[in-house]
Amino acid sequence: MIQNIKQNIFSVGATDPKRELFDALIPLPDGTSYNSYLIKGSEKTALIDTVDPTKTEILLKNLKELGAKIDYIIANHAEQDHSGSLKAVLDKNPKAKIVCTDKCKPMLMELLCISEEQIMVVNDKEKLVLGDKTLEFIYTPWVHWPETMCTYLHEDKILFSCDFFGSHFAAEDLFKYDPERLYKAAKRYFAEIMMPFRVMIKRNIETLSGYDIKLIAPSHGPVYEDPKTAIDWYKEWISDDVKNLAIVAYVSMHGSTKEIADRLCEDLTKKGVNAHKYDLTGADIGELAIDLVDAATIVVGTPCLLGAIHPTAVHAVYLVNALRPKTRFASVIASFGWGGRIVDEIVPMIKNLKVEIIPPVIVKGFPKDADFKEIERLAQQIAEKHKGLAK
Ligand code: FEO
Repeated sequence: MIQNIKQNIFSVGATDPKRELFDALIPLPDGTSYNSYLIKGSEKTALIDTVDPTKTEILLKNLKELGAKIDYIIANHAEQDHSGSLKAVLDKNPKAKIVCTDKCKPMLMELLCISEEQIMVVNDKEKLVLGDKTLEFIYTPWVHWPETMCTYLHEDKILFSCDFFGSHFAAEDLFKYDPERLYKAAKRYFAEIMMPFRVMIKRNIETLSGYDIKLIAPSHGPVYEDPKTAIDWYKEWISDDVKNLAIVAYVSMHGSTKEIADRLCEDLTKKGVNAHKYDLTGADIGELAIDLVDAATIVVGTPCLLGAIHPTAVHAVYLVNALRPKTRFASVIASFGWGGRIVDEIVPMIKNLKVEIIPPVIVKGFPKDADFKEIERLAQQIAEKHKGLAK
């Protein structure tokens, strides 16, 4: 739907409440939106980001309803959920220029077959005057691709941040939402999209601190009328601080690994550690990713299948390694029948994590008294490592 954000500034994008997965990987319990913003200056008109190609018709309908004649299409990011309708908008506005960073230009040419002459590269901090409205382009690389930038509208003090500060949250009204649901959606988004780039996010937040921002308008999810809220969330999530939280993520074929995981979580809880258990066969990996933002420890549980780690555990471990959480400790719990290389395989798979490996618990068959003592030993070691951490 069209929404008036401020005078002569309109939201013209689309919601996608029924989309279930992003990047063919990430579950979307709240759907998502592809926000696109139309800015009508007294002389020129700019469109900030477009929408996913599945929603092109909605964008075109909204633009038609507003009688928009577009001079510039600002491409803050080349990924197709924002750039995928560029060609359709260009077809309706053949004289319009796409405005983007130097790194974005070849991406748009390669991903969308857009010709070079339709693209206008802008430098970091360059301004574009639309008459009574002035856009400034702020390079913010790696949130979350190398070419990303934000666009700042000076007169209205709005930051159009694209994916940065975004959330997969299909809010029809960008100003009305349940704040708790938004917090969780924004944290899930951060965990899955932004967490690997914590260092670059810190630099980009420092860059943005030089701007007087009254409204953050991302290209996914609601806008932030109190920008400090979103910025403070990000500052907490990118900090080096971890919490007294241990994730126990396991797969079990015949109940042995589950028994180890159950007992470990019970022991951790008794020793004052907040333990979150995930059965990976049905777990929402988004929930697991959210916990990775804070967790001090991750324990992976797997049975030995064909002499190696269970493939479902491989998937989870691969994802954890790719997301590069600030987790400090890791361990393994496993059950085997006649032998295998569980620990030798898992440790190299988490090389991106700067973790201390706590000696694992590897059990032959179903756990017995001696094994339960080992599980308690692991819980005790984790509890000692967590001493002094915040809840
Ligand atoms: Fe929302 Fe990186 O695209």
